[in-house]
Amino acid sequence: MDKIAVIYWSGSGNTEKMAKAIVKGVNQAGKDVDVFQASDFSAKDINAYEKIAFGCPSMGCEVLEETEFEPFFQEIESALKEKQVALFGSYGWGDGEWMRNWQERVIQDGAKLFEEGVIINDKPDLAGEEKCTAFGERFANQ
Ligand SMILES: Cc1cc2nc3c(=O)[nH]c(=O)nc-3n(C[C@H](O)[C@H](O)[C@H](O)COP(=O)(O)O)c2cc1C
Repeated sequence: MDKIAVIYWSGSGNTEKMAKAIVKGVNQAGKDVDVFQASDFSAKDINAYEKIAFGCPSMGCEVLEETEFEPFFQEIESALKEKQVALFGSYGWGDGEWMRNWQERVIQDGAKLFEEGVIINDKPDLAGEEKCTAFGERFANQ
């Protein structure tokens, strides 16, 4: 069975809410999932997982959060080749440019990108949470 991880960074809780909804979807699919904040994930453990969902909001100017998440992601990036990777995150006023760039980046890394990354404006409402849950369920099942 594929081992699944959800690893995220969230400053004000919006991406964390998305992460929890995605975990719910994975569980609904009957799969186990390990959940980490990026700062708690040990890079040496990356190869324990075949499927990884990464979450990070749009920060800076349409970039990943630069103090914790970007260094974390750089550290594990070379291990993403051939892995199934899903992306998600919350944004504020932009048009999702950070997610488009992030998708390109994981494809360049050789990962198998799952669908389009899920993006939610600010705090996910009920419909947003359901969207994330369905995404998690599909990711677990594929
Ligand atoms: C320092 C900072 C920079 C941000 N830069 C962007 C940005 O470039 N584009 C955008 O759409 N939203 C931007 N935002 C808004 C966040 O993406 C948005 O508030 C998001 O919901 C935060 O998610 P979180 O609660 O998981 O931290 C920025 C927020 C902060 C605090």
